[in-house]
Amino acid sequence: MSHCFDYSNKRVVITGAFSGVGAALLDVLAELGAPEVIALDIKRPEGPISSFIETNMGKASSVDAAIDGIEGPIDVLFNNAGIAATHPVEDVMAVNWLGLRQLSEGLLPKMREGGAIANTASIAGGQWPGHLQEVLDCIAIEDSEELFGWCRDHAELVGDGYAFSKECVQVYTMKSAKDSLARNVRTNSVCPAPIDTPLLPDFNKTMTEKTMNWTIDQIGGTIATPRDIAMSLAFLGSDASGYVNGVNLNVDLGFNAFMTTGQLDFSGLA
Ligand SMILES: NC(=O)c1ccc[n+]([C@@H]2O[C@H](COP(=O)([O-])OP(=O)(O)OC[C@H]3O[C@@H](n4cnc5c(N)ncnc54)[C@H](O)[C@@H]3O)[C@@H](O)[C@H]2O)c1
Repeated sequence: MSHCFDYSNKRVVITGAFSGVGAALLDVLAELGAPEVIALDIKRPEGPISSFIETNMGKASSVDAAIDGIEGPIDVLFNNAGIAATHPVEDVMAVNWLGLRQLSEGLLPKMREGGAIANTASIAGGQWPGHLQEVLDCIAIEDSEELFGWCRDHAELVGDGYAFSKECVQVYTMKSAKDSLARNVRTNSVCPAPIDTPLLPDFNKTMTEKTMNWTIDQIGGTIATPRDIAMSLAFLGSDASGYVNGVNLNVDLGFNAFMTTGQLDFSGLA
C-alpha cells in the first residue's frame, strides 16, 4: 500500500552517493521503494543505484554532460555532493555552489510537476543573515570566472570557501524555491551539524578538532550518523513534505535553537 513517504513511483537523481550521507540515502531510498536512482559522482557508488554517470560537480562541462545524459521526467533531485576546505577556495565554490546551481537549473525543465529538489547545505552556512545582500549579489553571478573574481574581492567574507559556499546554498534554496514552484517543484535543504562521514577528518583540520568536538558536545555528545541526515533528505523529497518549500531545515539536534536562545556554553572554546 502506498504511503506519504513512498518513492515507488519516483525517479531520483542524487549527487555524491559514493560515501557518507549520499551512500546512506541510497539505502533509505531502497527501503522506500525507489525504482530508479541515477547517481552522479566522481566515484561509482557501491549501493543500490540503477545507473551511474561519472560527473565532476566542480566542472561545468562535466555537469552539462550529465544533464544531457539524464532523460526526464525526474521526480526528485538530491544535490548532496560536497567537499571541505582542504581543497582550494575556487574548487570548494565550484563543487558546493556552482555545480549545484547548474544541475538544479539544468534539470528543472526535466522535472515532473509535484517533484522536489533537496540540497545538502550545512549549519556552517547559517551566518548569511548578517550579510544577506552580499550573498544575493554573489549568487546572481552567472559566470564562474566572474564569481571567482568576486570571491577574491570579498576574501574576508568568503574565507576558506566552505561556510560561504553553504551560505550560498541556503540563500539559493530560498530564492530558487520561487522559480521552482512556478513549475510545481519544491526546493528545500537540510543543514546538518557534524556528521560521522569520511569528510569529518577534513573538517577537523579546517575548522579545528576542538570546534568540531565542542559543537557535538553542545548537543549532548552524539554526532549525527549519515542515516540521520539521509532520512531528513528523504522526507524533503517525499510527498510527506508536499507543502514545505524554501526551507533550510536544521538537522542538528537543536544546535541552532540553543544558539538562538542563548543556551550554548562557549567556555569549552576558550
Ligand atoms: N560530514 C559533515 O560533518 C557534514 C556536515 C554538514 C554538511 N555536510 C555536507 O554533507 C554532504 C555530504 O558529505 P559527507 O559528509 O557525506 O561526505 P563524503 O565525503 O562522505 O561524501 C561526499 C560525496 O561527494 C562526492 N564528491 C566529492 N567531490 C565530488 C565532485 N567534484 N563531483 C561529484 N561528486 C563529488 C564524494 O565522492 C562522495 O560521494 C556535503 O555537501 C557536505 O558538505 C557534511
